Amino acid sequence: MQSLDVLTREWRIAVVAGDGIGPELVDSATAVLRAAVEADGDTVAFSWIDGGAGEYLRSGRSLGPGMVERLRDDYDAVLKGPVGLPDVRHSDGTEAGLLGGVLRLGLDTYANVRPIWLLPGVRTPTTHRPGDIDYVIVRENTEGLYLSRGSGVVTSSAACDQLMVTRAGCERAARFAFETARGRQGAPADGVRRVTCVDKSNVLRSFAFMRAVTVEVGQEYPDIELDFRYADAAAHDLISDPGHFDVVLTENFLGDVLSDLGAATVGGLGMCPSGNIGDRAAYFEPIHGSAPPLAGTDRANPISQILSAALLLEHIGLTGAAARIHAAVRSALADGAIKLTAQGQPERGTRACTEAVLERL
Ligand SMILES: NC(=O)c1ccc[n+]([C@@H]2O[C@H](COP(=O)([O-])OP(=O)(O)OC[C@H]3O[C@@H](n4cnc5c(N)ncnc54)[C@H](O)[C@@H]3O)[C@@H](O)[C@H]2O)c1
Repeated sequence: MQSLDVLTREWRIAVVAGDGIGPELVDSATAVLRAAVEADGDTVAFSWIDGGAGEYLRSGRSLGPGMVERLRDDYDAVLKGPVGLPDVRHSDGTEAGLLGGVLRLGLDTYANVRPIWLLPGVRTPTTHRPGDIDYVIVRENTEGLYLSRGSGVVTSSAACDQLMVTRAGCERAARFAFETARGRQGAPADGVRRVTCVDKSNVLRSFAFMRAVTVEVGQEYPDIELDFRYADAAAHDLISDPGHFDVVLTENFLGDVLSDLGAATVGGLGMCPSGNIGDRAAYFEPIHGSAPPLAGTDRANPISQILSAALLLEHIGLTGAAARIHAAVRSALADGAIKLTAQGQPERGTRACTEAVLERL
């Protein structure tokens, strides 16, 4: 008989706590992640990595030298808290100390996966019920408008950023979206496995190109329906008819904006996790920012970070532990142990919310 040592292992997780509410959310999520993994006999070794605007103020860099390569090569995955302090800025007016460009490009995590689901017990400003909203945004994560980060042209009278999409970038994001649809049960309204390509191909050539490449890739997936929305109509339909959507494939900047819109329909930004996934590395973080006014007040909703930890576990194959975290969150919301205010903050506080999840694991 094999010894238990052979069947269990230690998982190496790098943790970037970040700024603002980041450290308290990451405290919650690491406690939940550890409890879920250790229940199966595995262990977790967390390595705490400095990064973000606080680190920029201390060292002049948002992440230490060589750290991107270490995050890629030395760990099973990365859990990241939100970063950024709005007053920490470069001379060009953009924020310093953000990690989006550093990590997404450095780790080549080309798919930003953002599930938007309405869980039981969570109030929504729409008339939808739990289960009516359950879609995943696959946001292309390495090009599009944000590729212009730091390289726009500015004169005293005008400024210009460029939106670039490449064939390879469109293809890999589209394939990721179709594969994601294959792993799901279809859209809530009709059970159809569907990828909706969201663009502005009526106006911009870059988006017409992206749509054409997506159609080509779609031919490899005859089992998945491919449909289209212009981004303005998508913003409307994600609120009026969210049940139509199963997987939403979109450009970097549009995905950033539309996922926050989706968050508003499912209890707020504090309900929304994400994964940044590439072929050689992945990291997991809430979709929201560091909410500086909430920092240290015990009012931030840690569910976004806890569910990001669950996505991480799913990604490294610990699907049982991930499912238990989901079930614990769902049950705590359903039975009222966690209630959110109209502002999306846990009524009894961040720590009590975390305890409610831990008790149900
Ligand atoms: N991935 C990231 O690290 C990331 C993403 C977005 C913004 N940012 C940065 O975060 C900083 C603050 O940006 P912002 O104020 O525009 O956006 P934000 O997401 O921090 O906050 C927007 C609103 O959502 C609320 N909110 C956010 N997270 C919450 C949570 N877990 N629970 C309850 N309420 C929550 C805030 O209180 C605020 O009202 C900026 O420096 C920005 O650049 C970082």
